[in-house]
Amino acid sequence: MIKPSEITSESDYLKRRDFIKKSAILVGAAWSGGLSLPASAKSPDYANDFPGLIKTPYGKGEKLTSFKDITTYNNFYEFGTDKKDPARTAVNFKTDPWSITVEGEANKTGTFHLEDIIKHAQIEERIYRFRCVEAWSMVVPWVGFSLAEMLKRFEPTSKAKYVAFETLYDPQQMPGQRRRVLDWPYRDGLRMDEAMNPLCFMATGIYGQHMPNQNGAPIRLVVPWKYGFKNIKSIVKIKFTEHQPVCTWNVTSAKEYGFYSNVNPHVDHPRWSQASERVLGAKFWEPKTKTRMFNGYASQVAHLYKGMDLTRFF
Ligand code: MTE
Repeated sequence: MIKPSEITSESDYLKRRDFIKKSAILVGAAWSGGLSLPASAKSPDYANDFPGLIKTPYGKGEKLTSFKDITTYNNFYEFGTDKKDPARTAVNFKTDPWSITVEGEANKTGTFHLEDIIKHAQIEERIYRFRCVEAWSMVVPWVGFSLAEMLKRFEPTSKAKYVAFETLYDPQQMPGQRRRVLDWPYRDGLRMDEAMNPLCFMATGIYGQHMPNQNGAPIRLVVPWKYGFKNIKSIVKIKFTEHQPVCTWNVTSAKEYGFYSNVNPHVDHPRWSQASERVLGAKFWEPKTKTRMFNGYASQVAHLYKGMDLTRFF
């Protein structure tokens, strides 16, 4: 439970960030001194920014997309519309200090330092497939914590039927926001029962490292059975609502992007097929892979849409 009294003063907060950074350095030093590393840390891309990180069975054995591919082929329009832009233009994006404002139909609302949210969370690694609506996919070792566990701590009321998320609006830092390519700030949302599904994840890192800026630092949403654009980055606001919230891509083009946006090989994007996907980093001679219903997570989420016509509620 986050109490208002737990909102730290600026100086305490800075001291703690400093402490966390120093501890990370110390642990890093201990590791290089010969302590054993988790199996996955054998990859040269793996870091240890999260000491004590809990490895979970999610996605165990899946072939990971390389760190390089995950961090150089991005959609983050706040930093440009080309896939290569964010890695270049988000380099100096300031994500510390960071706070999140919680509003709407909940008992515990207010503005919370990210640290105060994280300190209550169980930080774990989950390997999830990630599927972009543009028909490419990747497999990412995300670091983060359960969205449901976090939302419960804000004590949503019975009126909370949806939860909405908002990205930072800061055109000075985010050059893409100086042009009206999208209706800023970027927004998205989930039905409450979707949000409470154990698969939903608040990610603060990848490959054992703090989230790279271009991937949505310091905290972004991961909903593995939905198309990539539902996975909103650099979140500064969470709002519990009675009515279906506004979603940026739905506002931009309602015919192409619905509120649900579940990965579905049987419902095509109006301009291209969703039946197959190209795994990022695959060689050009390798065949495309078949898109799986709900991105392969049907056994965990299909019940959420029972009786719904998914061609209408796409
Ligand atoms: N979040 C914000 N704030 N702005 C964006 O442009 N793009 C979305 C999603 N979240 C986007 C965003 C889209 S279209 C995709 S496919 C994923 O982020 C890409 O995440 P990645 O760059 O980590 O692969």
